Amino acid sequence: MAEKDPRERIEELREKIEYHDFKYYVQNAPEISDREYDKLMNELIQLEKEYPEYDSEDSPSRRVGGKPVESFSDVEHRVPMLSINNTYNESELRAFDKRVSDAVSSYSYVAEPKIDGVALTVMYREGSLEYAATRGDGRTGDDITANAKTVRALPLNLPEGCPRVLEVRGEVYLAAERFRKINEKREEDGLSQFANPRNAAAGTLKLQDPSQVAARHLSLCIYSLGYTEGDVPSTQKELIGFLSDMHFPVQKRWRHCADIGEVLEFIREFDTERHELPYDVDGVVVKLNEFELRDELGSSSKAPRWLIAYKYEPEQVPTKVESVEHSVGRTGVITPVANLTPVQLAGTTVKRASLHNYEEVERKDVHVGDTVTIEKAGEIIPQVVKVHKDERPDDSRPIEPPSECPACSSPVTHIEGEVALRCTNPECPAQLEGRVIHFCSRSAMDIDGFGEAIAKQMLKEDMIDSVPSIYELRDKREELLKLERMGEKSADNLLASIENSKERGLHRVLVGLGIPHVGARLAQVLTENFRDIASIMEATRERLEEISEIGPIVADSVAKFFSDERNRSEIERLDAAGVKLRSKEREGEGERPLAGLTIVITGSFEGHKRPELTRVLELHGAKVTSSVSKNTDILLAGESPGSKLDKARKNGNTRILSLEEFLNEYPVHLEDR
Ligand code: IVH
Repeated sequence: MAEKDPRERIEELREKIEYHDFKYYVQNAPEISDREYDKLMNELIQLEKEYPEYDSEDSPSRRVGGKPVESFSDVEHRVPMLSINNTYNESELRAFDKRVSDAVSSYSYVAEPKIDGVALTVMYREGSLEYAATRGDGRTGDDITANAKTVRALPLNLPEGCPRVLEVRGEVYLAAERFRKINEKREEDGLSQFANPRNAAAGTLKLQDPSQVAARHLSLCIYSLGYTEGDVPSTQKELIGFLSDMHFPVQKRWRHCADIGEVLEFIREFDTERHELPYDVDGVVVKLNEFELRDELGSSSKAPRWLIAYKYEPEQVPTKVESVEHSVGRTGVITPVANLTPVQLAGTTVKRASLHNYEEVERKDVHVGDTVTIEKAGEIIPQVVKVHKDERPDDSRPIEPPSECPACSSPVTHIEGEVALRCTNPECPAQLEGRVIHFCSRSAMDIDGFGEAIAKQMLKEDMIDSVPSIYELRDKREELLKLERMGEKSADNLLASIENSKERGLHRVLVGLGIPHVGARLAQVLTENFRDIASIMEATRERLEEISEIGPIVADSVAKFFSDERNRSEIERLDAAGVKLRSKEREGEGERPLAGLTIVITGSFEGHKRPELTRVLELHGAKVTSSVSKNTDILLAGESPGSKLDKARKNGNTRILSLEEFLNEYPVHLEDR
């Protein structure tokens, strides 16, 4: 098969990926599996690396993260980004309508959900994304183009027939589930928690490394225009359809309302519906539908007069901080948690609220004994939103960061540049408890019946003293039966699920070990690139960094984890217990005939694409690098080799082989992958 012109293939891949991004992220109607999508993206990234001359600003490969930036440059908004006046009740809304009806006649409204995120403006010229910026002070914002491109729902190119210049505006936000995962991961990574999805989205857009932004999976909704040249709609109702035709993600729930009465009806209906949405909606934006009439109403210096935001009152209740607990997570991070006088809030009884970190405690100035107002952030986690200092009792006590670990009395430290406080003792019982619970959890080894309560009891009774000791429980059936609510049947079931978990495979084990920065996705990457845990343990930082999905932070964390004697010996014990530590993904592979060889590829090979060759060589154990050094064993030279050949010739250690010569010596199957 003749190799396709790389430039054509690059173009083709870019178009395909953009199409599938649109299907998946805008229309929610994917046509291919994630795996197929990843294959396309990986091929594109590899080709762009090989042919940097075809690099392009609007390539979808930018979505996985461009180069980090030092600082953001300024963007002056051609049309200012004003804010919106808020109202909290019906009479203010009617007063707004009165002002509108005094100024214009025959008008209507569009009522739209007000998503709680961060405003974004995006400029397209001749159908290509030119830049994206934050609101800033309304006149000048930050150029955050590279970060915005990681938002998969944002089109990089617009369809045929789009206006010459089109600036669109909308909201970048984090879905509630994403927010939960980010905070969970921050806990794993020893970082402090974000207080709510809005803060997390704002913080994300300001990150200087786009690949970190990509990993946060921001969502987007577009709802208005900025500066434009060319034909655009003249009502909000049409605008929503137009934006959708231009492939932008738009609101699904909105209503064209003939009068303010209909607007109020929508607001009431939507108040119940909004709780079922997978993201935070904190109100309804009421907009005059007709653009012509908007001009007649104009704007004040702060906000337009033709729209208003009706904000739902968040459900809040007062309660009392009875005590504070300093909870130690499995990575040692200490989080202050307030124990509250139990109260009903948005349908549940709330007894505790996270205070996130000690900086936040100081900022809010919360004392034990204080009356506080709590609210549910994003309908999920209760938060302290107000401290009633005027009601502070005389015997109230400020909350101090602990000077030693509350679980093991070891010293605590601040990680440099971080607000999180941490216990320094790897043997800390609280950390061990967290590690055991995590190892057995559903996303890791999925040991049915091994929940938090059981783990706590077993640790208390000294039945287990480490993660691997879980697998020694089968010799302790009698002791097991002494635990609370543990009958014969449940003990047998538990032991059976422990045994079954041995077969989960390397991927789950890696998740279960709780290596900082390694969640399900990276565990998968590791399993695909190494055949067993031993080869991951041997891998140097450099070797890890050669894997495209692994950056320096992860490489460092993995190498550090596996160089720790305690972790190594735990893994040995897991192995001895019979836990499978081989990659299922790489099962069936024979010996690795190329193990230990460092190979560089240059030139082209008839019938074989270089990324594929690379993969096959790696599969058989070779290390494939991009430039010739004194460590290069073999230079695989194809047609029209480049400067690498000269370099290899000068290099005494490197053998230069054609593909044929190579295959004679090392009979590997090129069709293996
Ligand atoms: S229209 C003049 N529509 O809420 C501003 N804004 O609190 C025109 N927002 O700055 C904005 N959902 O970031 C509009 N459907 C929606 C919105 C929305 C959320 C944001 C926007 C605005 C903020 C004001």
